[in-house]
Amino acid sequence: MRQARITGVGHAVPERVVTNDDLAKLMDTSDEWITERSGVKERHHVSNDEETGASDLGVQAAEIAMEMAGVSPRDIDLIVFATISSDYFLPGSAVMVQEKMGMRHVGAFDVRAACSGFVYGLSIADQFIRTGMHDNILLVGAEIQSVALKFTTEHRNLAVLFGDGAGAVILQPSHDDSGVLSTHLHSEGSHLKDLWLPAPGSKYRPFNSKELIDKDLHVPHMNGREVFKNAVIRFPEVIQEALDYNGLTLNDVALIIPHQANYRISQAVAKRLGVGMDKMYSNIHKYGNTTAASIPIAMSEAYAEGKISPGDIVILAAFGSGFTWASAAIRW
Ligand code: UT7
Repeated sequence: MRQARITGVGHAVPERVVTNDDLAKLMDTSDEWITERSGVKERHHVSNDEETGASDLGVQAAEIAMEMAGVSPRDIDLIVFATISSDYFLPGSAVMVQEKMGMRHVGAFDVRAACSGFVYGLSIADQFIRTGMHDNILLVGAEIQSVALKFTTEHRNLAVLFGDGAGAVILQPSHDDSGVLSTHLHSEGSHLKDLWLPAPGSKYRPFNSKELIDKDLHVPHMNGREVFKNAVIRFPEVIQEALDYNGLTLNDVALIIPHQANYRISQAVAKRLGVGMDKMYSNIHKYGNTTAASIPIAMSEAYAEGKISPGDIVILAAFGSGFTWASAAIRW
Protein backbone atom coordinates (compact mmCIF):
# COMPACT_ATOMS: atom_id res chain seq x y z
CA MET A 1 0.00 0.00 0.00
CA ARG A 2 1.24 3.52 -0.83
CA GLN A 3 2.00 5.86 2.05
CA ALA A 4 3.35 9.40 2.20
CA ARG A 5 7.01 10.04 2.85
CA ILE A 6 8.53 13.36 3.89
CA THR A 7 11.18 14.07 1.26
CA GLY A 8 11.88 17.71 2.11
CA VAL A 9 11.60 19.93 5.16
CA GLY A 10 12.41 23.57 5.84
CA HIS A 11 11.57 26.45 8.11
CA ALA A 12 11.71 30.24 8.28
CA VAL A 13 11.19 32.82 11.01
CA PRO A 14 11.13 36.63 10.93
CA GLU A 15 14.45 38.33 11.67
CA ARG A 16 13.29 40.30 14.70
CA VAL A 17 14.12 38.55 17.98
CA VAL A 18 12.10 39.57 21.04
CA THR A 19 13.64 38.52 24.34
CA ASN A 20 11.92 38.08 27.68
CA ASP A 21 13.65 41.25 28.86
CA ASP A 22 12.15 43.13 25.90
CA LEU A 23 8.67 42.00 27.00
CA ALA A 24 9.38 42.94 30.61
CA LYS A 25 9.65 46.55 29.41
CA LEU A 26 6.06 46.39 28.10
CA MET A 27 4.26 44.55 30.92
CA ASP A 28 4.65 43.26 34.44
CA THR A 29 6.64 40.11 33.78
CA SER A 30 10.23 38.90 34.04
CA ASP A 31 12.74 36.66 32.30
CA GLU A 32 12.72 34.49 35.41
CA TRP A 33 8.91 33.99 35.42
CA ILE A 34 8.69 33.25 31.70
CA THR A 35 11.68 30.88 31.70
CA GLU A 36 10.55 28.99 34.77
CA ARG A 37 6.88 28.65 33.73
CA SER A 38 7.32 28.01 30.01
CA GLY A 39 10.96 27.53 28.99
CA VAL A 40 10.69 30.37 26.45
CA LYS A 41 13.73 32.68 26.35
CA GLU A 42 13.02 34.50 23.09
CA ARG A 43 10.69 34.40 20.11
CA HIS A 44 10.64 35.91 16.61
CA HIS A 45 8.08 38.56 15.72
CA VAL A 46 7.47 40.32 12.43
CA SER A 47 8.42 43.98 12.45
CA ASN A 48 5.64 46.50 12.65
CA ASP A 49 7.01 48.34 9.65
CA GLU A 50 6.82 45.43 7.23
CA GLU A 51 3.85 43.69 5.69
CA THR A 52 4.78 40.04 6.13
CA GLY A 53 1.86 37.63 6.15
CA ALA A 54 1.75 33.95 7.09
CA SER A 55 2.01 33.06 3.39
CA ASP A 56 5.31 34.98 3.02
CA LEU A 57 6.97 32.95 5.77
CA GLY A 58 5.30 29.83 4.36
CA VAL A 59 6.84 30.47 0.94
CA GLN A 60 10.32 30.87 2.47
CA ALA A 61 9.98 27.56 4.32
CA ALA A 62 8.49 25.87 1.22
CA GLU A 63 11.44 26.95 -0.95
CA ILE A 64 13.87 25.17 1.40
CA ALA A 65 11.70 22.05 1.63
CA MET A 66 11.30 21.89 -2.16
CA GLU A 67 15.02 22.24 -2.73
CA MET A 68 15.71 19.34 -0.35
CA ALA A 69 13.07 17.20 -2.08
CA GLY A 70 14.36 18.16 -5.53
CA VAL A 71 10.96 19.34 -6.74
CA SER A 72 10.03 22.59 -8.46
CA PRO A 73 6.86 24.64 -7.87
CA ARG A 74 5.40 23.27 -11.12
CA ASP A 75 5.65 19.71 -9.70
CA ILE A 76 3.39 20.45 -6.70
CA ASP A 77 -0.09 18.98 -7.16
CA LEU A 78 -1.74 19.99 -3.85
CA ILE A 79 -1.12 22.74 -1.30
CA VAL A 80 -2.28 22.31 2.29
CA PHE A 81 -1.70 25.29 4.57
CA ALA A 82 -2.18 24.87 8.33
CA THR A 83 -2.71 28.18 10.11
CA ILE A 84 -4.96 30.15 12.44
CA SER A 85 -3.42 33.43 11.30
CA SER A 86 -3.98 33.46 7.55
CA ASP A 87 -2.97 36.61 5.70
CA TYR A 88 -6.60 37.60 5.19
CA PHE A 89 -9.83 36.54 6.80
CA LEU A 90 -10.84 35.36 3.33
CA PRO A 91 -9.52 33.56 1.30
CA GLY A 92 -7.02 31.27 3.03
CA SER A 93 -3.24 31.53 2.63
CA ALA A 94 -2.81 28.37 0.51
CA VAL A 95 -3.92 30.22 -2.64
CA MET A 96 -1.35 32.92 -1.95
CA VAL A 97 1.41 30.28 -1.92
CA GLN A 98 0.08 28.95 -5.25
CA GLU A 99 0.24 32.41 -6.78
CA LYS A 100 3.52 33.60 -5.24
CA MET A 101 5.39 30.42 -6.17
CA GLY A 102 3.97 30.24 -9.70
CA MET A 103 2.44 26.83 -9.11
CA ARG A 104 -0.09 25.22 -11.43
CA HIS A 105 -3.81 25.71 -10.76
CA VAL A 106 -3.80 22.87 -8.22
CA GLY A 107 -6.01 22.38 -5.16
CA ALA A 108 -5.07 24.71 -2.32
CA PHE A 109 -6.79 25.06 1.05
CA ASP A 110 -6.21 26.01 4.67
CA VAL A 111 -6.61 23.79 7.74
CA ARG A 112 -7.69 25.60 10.92
CA ALA A 113 -6.96 23.04 13.62
CA ALA A 114 -4.76 25.45 15.63
CA CYS A 115 -1.77 23.78 17.33
CA SER A 116 -2.82 20.41 15.86
CA GLY A 117 -3.05 21.92 12.37
CA PHE A 118 0.20 20.48 11.03
CA VAL A 119 -0.59 16.92 12.13
CA TYR A 120 -4.15 17.26 10.79
CA GLY A 121 -2.66 18.53 7.50
CA LEU A 122 -0.22 15.65 7.43
CA SER A 123 -3.08 13.21 7.88
CA ILE A 124 -5.00 14.82 5.00
CA ALA A 125 -1.94 14.80 2.72
CA ASP A 126 -1.21 11.18 3.61
CA GLN A 127 -4.75 10.14 2.63
CA PHE A 128 -4.41 11.85 -0.76
CA ILE A 129 -1.14 10.03 -1.40
CA ARG A 130 -2.48 6.68 -0.17
CA THR A 131 -5.43 6.88 -2.57
CA GLY A 132 -3.13 7.74 -5.46
CA MET A 133 -4.80 11.09 -6.08
CA HIS A 134 -1.65 13.19 -5.55
CA ASP A 135 2.12 12.63 -5.74
CA ASN A 136 3.80 15.91 -4.73
CA ILE A 137 2.08 17.66 -1.85
CA LEU A 138 3.30 20.84 -0.18
CA LEU A 139 2.21 21.02 3.47
CA VAL A 140 2.92 24.29 5.27
CA GLY A 141 2.38 25.26 8.92
CA ALA A 142 2.75 29.03 9.32
CA GLU A 143 1.68 31.64 11.84
CA ILE A 144 2.01 35.35 12.43
CA GLN A 145 0.50 35.64 15.86
CA SER A 146 2.39 38.58 17.32
CA VAL A 147 0.08 41.05 15.56
CA ALA A 148 -2.96 39.67 17.42
CA LEU A 149 -1.35 39.68 20.87
CA LYS A 150 -1.74 42.50 23.36
CA PHE A 151 1.50 43.28 25.13
CA THR A 152 -0.10 44.41 28.38
CA THR A 153 -0.09 42.99 31.89
CA GLU A 154 -3.75 41.96 31.50
CA HIS A 155 -2.86 39.72 28.53
CA ARG A 156 0.60 38.66 29.67
CA ASN A 157 -0.16 34.93 30.06
CA LEU A 158 -0.58 34.67 26.27
CA ALA A 159 1.66 37.49 25.13
CA VAL A 160 4.84 35.90 26.47
CA LEU A 161 4.22 32.44 25.02
CA PHE A 162 3.56 32.90 21.33
CA GLY A 163 5.84 33.57 18.37
CA ASP A 164 5.81 33.81 14.57
CA GLY A 165 7.29 31.30 12.13
CA ALA A 166 6.73 28.74 9.42
CA GLY A 167 7.72 25.21 8.55
CA ALA A 168 7.01 23.20 5.43
CA VAL A 169 7.34 19.65 4.17
CA ILE A 170 7.06 17.93 0.80
CA LEU A 171 5.19 14.63 0.80
CA GLN A 172 5.64 12.05 -1.93
CA PRO A 173 4.76 8.35 -2.25
CA SER A 174 7.16 6.04 -0.49
CA HIS A 175 8.82 3.25 -2.46
CA ASP A 176 9.79 1.21 0.61
CA ASP A 177 8.56 0.81 4.20
CA SER A 178 9.38 4.44 5.11
CA GLY A 179 6.71 7.10 5.48
CA VAL A 180 3.69 8.05 7.54
CA LEU A 181 2.65 4.84 9.31
CA SER A 182 -0.46 6.26 10.97
CA THR A 183 -2.22 9.41 12.06
CA HIS A 184 -4.79 9.79 14.85
CA LEU A 185 -6.94 12.92 15.17
CA HIS A 186 -9.16 14.03 18.10
CA SER A 187 -11.25 16.95 19.32
CA GLU A 188 -13.32 18.06 22.31
CA GLY A 189 -15.26 21.22 21.44
CA SER A 190 -16.63 21.70 24.96
CA HIS A 191 -13.26 23.30 25.74
CA LEU A 192 -13.33 25.85 22.93
CA LYS A 193 -13.40 28.84 25.27
CA ASP A 194 -10.30 27.67 27.13
CA LEU A 195 -8.19 28.96 24.25
CA TRP A 196 -10.00 31.09 21.72
CA LEU A 197 -10.11 34.25 19.71
CA PRO A 198 -13.80 35.18 19.55
CA ALA A 199 -13.89 37.79 16.80
CA PRO A 200 -14.18 38.63 14.02
CA GLY A 201 -16.45 35.66 13.38
CA SER A 202 -19.98 35.05 12.20
CA LYS A 203 -21.23 34.97 15.81
CA TYR A 204 -20.33 38.60 16.51
CA ARG A 205 -22.60 41.23 15.03
CA PRO A 206 -22.22 43.85 13.96
CA PHE A 207 -18.98 42.53 12.62
CA ASN A 208 -17.05 45.76 13.10
CA SER A 209 -18.60 47.02 16.34
CA LYS A 210 -16.68 49.24 18.71
CA GLU A 211 -17.81 46.91 21.50
CA LEU A 212 -15.87 44.09 19.87
CA ILE A 213 -12.66 46.10 20.20
CA ASP A 214 -13.50 47.51 23.64
CA LYS A 215 -14.14 44.02 25.03
CA ASP A 216 -10.92 42.67 23.47
CA LEU A 217 -12.84 40.04 21.51
CA HIS A 218 -10.25 40.37 18.73
CA VAL A 219 -7.48 39.27 21.14
CA PRO A 220 -6.87 35.60 22.03
CA HIS A 221 -7.92 34.45 25.51
CA MET A 222 -6.62 31.43 27.37
CA ASN A 223 -7.39 29.51 30.53
CA GLY A 224 -3.77 28.45 30.88
CA ARG A 225 -4.27 26.01 33.75
CA GLU A 226 -7.07 24.15 31.95
CA VAL A 227 -4.99 23.94 28.78
CA PHE A 228 -2.01 22.67 30.77
CA LYS A 229 -4.08 20.09 32.68
CA ASN A 230 -5.58 18.63 29.52
CA ALA A 231 -2.36 18.80 27.50
CA VAL A 232 -0.43 16.61 29.94
CA ILE A 233 -3.15 13.94 29.64
CA ARG A 234 -3.85 14.11 25.89
CA PHE A 235 -0.21 14.18 24.69
CA PRO A 236 0.77 10.85 26.32
CA GLU A 237 -2.59 9.32 25.39
CA VAL A 238 -2.28 10.11 21.69
CA ILE A 239 1.41 9.13 21.58
CA GLN A 240 0.50 5.77 23.14
CA GLU A 241 -2.31 5.42 20.59
CA ALA A 242 0.22 5.81 17.76
CA LEU A 243 2.54 3.24 19.35
CA ASP A 244 -0.20 0.68 20.02
CA TYR A 245 -1.66 1.01 16.53
CA ASN A 246 1.73 0.19 15.00
CA GLY A 247 2.77 -2.45 17.54
CA LEU A 248 5.67 -0.26 18.68
CA THR A 249 7.06 0.61 22.09
CA LEU A 250 8.91 3.73 23.20
CA ASN A 251 12.15 1.78 22.85
CA ASP A 252 11.54 1.68 19.09
CA VAL A 253 11.18 5.47 18.92
CA ALA A 254 14.20 7.60 18.02
CA LEU A 255 12.53 10.97 18.63
CA ILE A 256 9.23 12.44 19.76
CA ILE A 257 8.54 15.86 18.23
CA PRO A 258 5.77 17.41 20.31
CA HIS A 259 4.02 20.65 19.50
CA GLN A 260 6.11 23.25 21.33
CA ALA A 261 3.45 24.48 23.77
CA ASN A 262 5.45 24.83 26.96
CA TYR A 263 8.67 23.15 28.12
CA ARG A 264 6.99 22.17 31.38
CA ILE A 265 4.25 20.38 29.42
CA SER A 266 6.92 18.43 27.48
CA GLN A 267 8.67 17.54 30.74
CA ALA A 268 5.41 16.32 32.30
CA VAL A 269 4.61 14.28 29.18
CA ALA A 270 8.09 12.72 29.16
CA LYS A 271 7.68 11.83 32.83
CA ARG A 272 4.26 10.22 32.27
CA LEU A 273 5.63 8.23 29.34
CA GLY A 274 8.77 7.29 31.24
CA VAL A 275 11.23 8.67 28.67
CA GLY A 276 14.11 11.09 29.10
CA MET A 277 14.02 14.61 27.68
CA ASP A 278 16.71 13.51 25.19
CA LYS A 279 13.90 11.72 23.30
CA MET A 280 11.61 14.73 23.46
CA TYR A 281 12.68 17.39 20.97
CA SER A 282 12.50 20.96 22.23
CA ASN A 283 13.36 24.32 20.70
CA ILE A 284 10.71 26.39 22.50
CA HIS A 285 13.43 28.50 24.15
CA LYS A 286 14.18 30.06 20.72
CA TYR A 287 10.75 30.41 19.15
CA GLY A 288 8.04 30.22 21.81
CA ASN A 289 4.81 28.56 20.77
CA THR A 290 4.34 28.96 17.01
CA THR A 291 1.05 26.99 16.89
CA ALA A 292 0.72 25.16 13.53
CA ALA A 293 4.33 25.98 12.64
CA SER A 294 5.95 24.52 15.74
CA ILE A 295 6.16 20.87 14.69
CA PRO A 296 7.57 21.47 11.18
CA ILE A 297 10.06 24.03 12.55
CA ALA A 298 11.15 21.50 15.18
CA MET A 299 11.32 18.73 12.57
CA SER A 300 13.43 20.92 10.29
CA GLU A 301 15.87 21.74 13.09
CA ALA A 302 15.99 18.16 14.38
CA TYR A 303 16.80 16.95 10.87
CA ALA A 304 19.50 19.62 10.38
CA GLU A 305 21.02 18.66 13.75
CA GLY A 306 21.29 15.02 12.64
CA LYS A 307 18.73 13.82 15.19
CA ILE A 308 16.65 12.00 12.55
CA SER A 309 18.17 9.35 10.26
CA PRO A 310 16.70 7.06 7.60
CA GLY A 311 14.73 4.23 9.20
CA ASP A 312 14.14 6.09 12.48
CA ILE A 313 10.70 5.99 14.05
CA VAL A 314 9.58 9.55 14.79
CA ILE A 315 6.37 10.38 16.63
CA LEU A 316 4.69 13.77 16.13
CA ALA A 317 2.15 14.84 18.76
CA ALA A 318 0.05 17.97 19.11
CA PHE A 319 -2.49 19.50 21.45
CA GLY A 320 -4.18 22.88 21.40
CA SER A 321 -7.18 25.12 20.92
CA GLY A 322 -10.46 23.34 20.33
CA PHE A 323 -9.38 21.31 22.12
CA THR A 324 -7.82 19.32 19.30
CA TRP A 325 -5.04 16.77 19.64
CA ALA A 326 -3.35 14.41 17.24
CA SER A 327 -0.36 12.18 16.60
CA ALA A 328 1.52 10.74 13.65
CA ALA A 329 3.95 7.84 13.55
CA ILE A 330 6.59 8.13 10.84
CA ARG A 331 9.35 5.81 9.68
CA TRP A 332 11.87 8.33 8.31
O1 UT7 B 1 -0.61 25.19 22.34
C1 UT7 B 1 -1.31 25.23 23.53
C2 UT7 B 1 -1.18 26.65 23.97
N1 UT7 B 1 -1.19 26.95 25.32
C3 UT7 B 1 -0.45 26.36 26.29
O2 UT7 B 1 0.23 25.40 26.12
C4 UT7 B 1 -0.54 27.01 27.63
C5 UT7 B 1 -0.62 26.02 28.75
N2 UT7 B 1 -0.53 26.73 30.02
C6 UT7 B 1 0.61 27.27 30.45
O3 UT7 B 1 1.62 27.16 29.79
C7 UT7 B 1 0.60 27.96 31.77
O4 UT7 B 1 -0.69 27.86 32.33
C8 UT7 B 1 1.03 29.43 31.69
C9 UT7 B 1 2.52 29.53 31.34
C10 UT7 B 1 0.21 30.18 30.66
C11 UT7 B 1 0.83 30.10 33.03
O5 UT7 B 1 1.53 29.39 34.04
P1 UT7 B 1 0.78 28.96 35.38
O6 UT7 B 1 1.81 28.36 36.24
O7 UT7 B 1 -0.40 28.11 35.01
O8 UT7 B 1 0.32 30.33 35.97
P2 UT7 B 1 -1.15 30.85 36.32
O9 UT7 B 1 -1.94 31.11 35.08
O10 UT7 B 1 -1.76 29.94 37.33
O11 UT7 B 1 -0.81 32.21 36.98
C12 UT7 B 1 -0.01 32.31 38.18
C13 UT7 B 1 0.30 33.76 38.42
C14 UT7 B 1 -0.92 34.67 38.34
O12 UT7 B 1 -0.77 35.67 39.31
P3 UT7 B 1 -1.55 35.57 40.71
O13 UT7 B 1 -3.00 35.52 40.37
O14 UT7 B 1 -1.06 34.31 41.36
O15 UT7 B 1 -1.13 36.81 41.41
C15 UT7 B 1 -0.80 35.28 36.96
O16 UT7 B 1 -1.42 36.56 36.89
O17 UT7 B 1 1.21 34.23 37.41
C16 UT7 B 1 0.68 35.41 36.83
N3 UT7 B 1 1.14 35.51 35.44
C17 UT7 B 1 2.29 36.10 35.11
N4 UT7 B 1 3.24 36.69 35.84
C18 UT7 B 1 4.31 37.18 35.20
C19 UT7 B 1 0.52 35.05 34.32
N5 UT7 B 1 1.28 35.34 33.24
C20 UT7 B 1 2.39 35.99 33.71
C21 UT7 B 1 3.53 36.54 33.09
N6 UT7 B 1 4.47 37.11 33.87
N7 UT7 B 1 3.71 36.47 31.76
